[in-house]
Amino acid sequence: MEKYLINPNQKMSKICKDIYGNFSEHLGRCIYEGLFVGKDSEIPNVNGMRKDVVEALKDMGLPVLRWPGGCFADEYHWKDGIGPLENRKKMINTHWGGVTEDNSFGTHEFFELCEQLGCDPYITGNVGSGTVQEMSEWVEYMTFGGESPMANLRRQNGREEPWKLTYFAVGNENWGCGGCMDPVFYANTYRRYQTYVRNYSNDNRVYKVACGPNAEDYNWTEELMKNARWHMNGLALHYYTITHDWGHKGSATEFDEKEYYDCLAAAYKIDSIISRHLEIMNRYDPDKRVDLIVDEWGTWHDVEPGTNPGFLYQQNTMRDAIVAALSLNIFNKHSDRIRMCNIAQTINVLQSVALTDGADMVLTPTYYTFKMFKDHQENTLLGSYITSENIDTAKGKLPTLCESASIDENGVVYSTITNTSATEMKEVLCQLADTQVKSVKAEILTAKMDAFNTFDSKDAVKTAEFTDFEVTADGFKANIPACSVVKFVIER
Ligand code: AHR
Repeated sequence: MEKYLINPNQKMSKICKDIYGNFSEHLGRCIYEGLFVGKDSEIPNVNGMRKDVVEALKDMGLPVLRWPGGCFADEYHWKDGIGPLENRKKMINTHWGGVTEDNSFGTHEFFELCEQLGCDPYITGNVGSGTVQEMSEWVEYMTFGGESPMANLRRQNGREEPWKLTYFAVGNENWGCGGCMDPVFYANTYRRYQTYVRNYSNDNRVYKVACGPNAEDYNWTEELMKNARWHMNGLALHYYTITHDWGHKGSATEFDEKEYYDCLAAAYKIDSIISRHLEIMNRYDPDKRVDLIVDEWGTWHDVEPGTNPGFLYQQNTMRDAIVAALSLNIFNKHSDRIRMCNIAQTINVLQSVALTDGADMVLTPTYYTFKMFKDHQENTLLGSYITSENIDTAKGKLPTLCESASIDENGVVYSTITNTSATEMKEVLCQLADTQVKSVKAEILTAKMDAFNTFDSKDAVKTAEFTDFEVTADGFKANIPACSVVKFVIER
């Protein structure tokens, strides 16, 4: 029997809702077809935004959406995406399949989408191929309420009031597709560009994000913190879960038990990677003023056979749902320093929460993990610990059980546990310190490791009520099935 201790007296840090963010790029069928179909589409939409997708994302509790890239951001010229549709410039999406980008989804459409979703906008500016002036004018266009060339241009395009821009990133992956810079060069470039990302009103202080490291590039973090920490609010790490290696990533749906564990262990590794980056950040910033952001994370498998390799379309199994649960539990545990995370990507690209086919939409197992975990948003993380065995894999050690617990303002405790074992149920005895438990309710997501939802079988993997537990005086005793994610809601 494994022991699980939750201490409601040990209040750790606020779990910022933005840890549950998504990322959406002009890549494959994420924006076009996935989120946006245009006003004239036969697919039900409001001002061009798909109704089914917007409803699903709202239900999931999406708090923040990142746009327009990704690699696309450092080739995107925002003025091409404003004004009358017929005048918008067509460009080649060189990174992603060489397809024509007609710019019908631009700044106004993105803010409309965020308004419909009730989420905050997170925009990435172009450093790689854009100018300081271009970035500066974009921020003026979006956020200035007075009389100015850019504010007037916005009005001319139909929007009187400025929008609220919550987060703004100065470039994306500038160590790679965003300009192949070295860290010192980027740190200096960042300082220059961010100078002109102005705050035009006290009601809209733009939160500035600097491009952070690729996975284990600790030197990047060191140089950015050394040379530019005073000018940033957040530093953005990117980490993708790859089962094998970049040359041979592996199928999203066809894998054996070894590949299942390797993939989960690769995902779990983000915990130690985050800790090492935070050690460096803490050395330069002991007051912990600069947050860590993880604005691209998730599984990256081989594309579905027969699909455009540049579109990064992959299916999503119970294994992906567990990757999401492991990652979200880890982000919760680091919520003293992590402010925002954005899974890549929302729809039809990489580890999506939904897939579309024409007018049809299917929710993925990952969607259900996000929906289960949404109760943690804005709660306070509690001190907690679970005993667990480790599984040895080619990608390092993987604990069989991984959890996090939080408390809301009414004193209700939420615990999310994942059992990574593909075969073994785990008996868990949970005790809450100084607690008399009134009631416990639970929900589960479980299936075979390679089960997934299709357009013909949409409910193969979905949440259900969980009842295989008994309430004790100070907690519960539960049988957590193999390959599952379980949420407990504990009233005291
Ligand atoms: O998410 C796909 C791509 O992965 C993004 O465009 C880029 O930032 C990263 O390399």
